[in-house]
Amino acid sequence: MYKSWDELKTACEGCRKCGLCETRHNVVVGVGNPNAEVMFIGEGPGENEDIQGEPFVGRAGKLLDKMLLAVDLERGKNIYIANIVKCRPPQNRDPKPEEQEQCIDWLREQVRLIRPKIIVCLGRIAAQRIIDPDLKITRDHGKWFQKGGILMMPMLHPAALLRDPRRKPEAFEDFLALREKIYEVCEHTYPIGMI
Ligand code: URA
Repeated sequence: MYKSWDELKTACEGCRKCGLCETRHNVVVGVGNPNAEVMFIGEGPGENEDIQGEPFVGRAGKLLDKMLLAVDLERGKNIYIANIVKCRPPQNRDPKPEEQEQCIDWLREQVRLIRPKIIVCLGRIAAQRIIDPDLKITRDHGKWFQKGGILMMPMLHPAALLRDPRRKPEAFEDFLALREKIYEVCEHTYPIGMI
């Protein structure tokens, strides 16, 4: 249990709990407002994230930022973004179950400190780890789930949208549904007067 963000960040940056620490350049802890009511969780850092030490800074990240902005959400302003694993899996392979298991306590601590009202899981890996191991992302994206008093929604991963841009409209529907839910349950994500 960490008392402050600084303490958590320093400990996470020194983590050597799994083999991914051998090949990483940076531990990608997370980015955004630690008082956010809405948290996004991706899978794990890719090459650009590993180099820059920040989640979603590559092509998929640029697309994510665009979709976020369309519903008035911005990293560094009114959301927080983290990943299931904090270090890059080599060749961008899926993080192994044992790597996820070793890393998940960092995310638990982040959620404990942020206490978000809404968690959005980006892609299958995050959705299955956080919401339900049997979840099917193509079938279940955009649906709301509730766990431990937190509302959760799986979304299509932005990298999947880059591979298949025909799915962008359905992904955007999910962002609109997210905005509606934020209006409903969040108090300070959107400035007063915007509703
Ligand atoms: N994909 C993810 O899931 N997370 C990142 O940080 C970057 C790409």
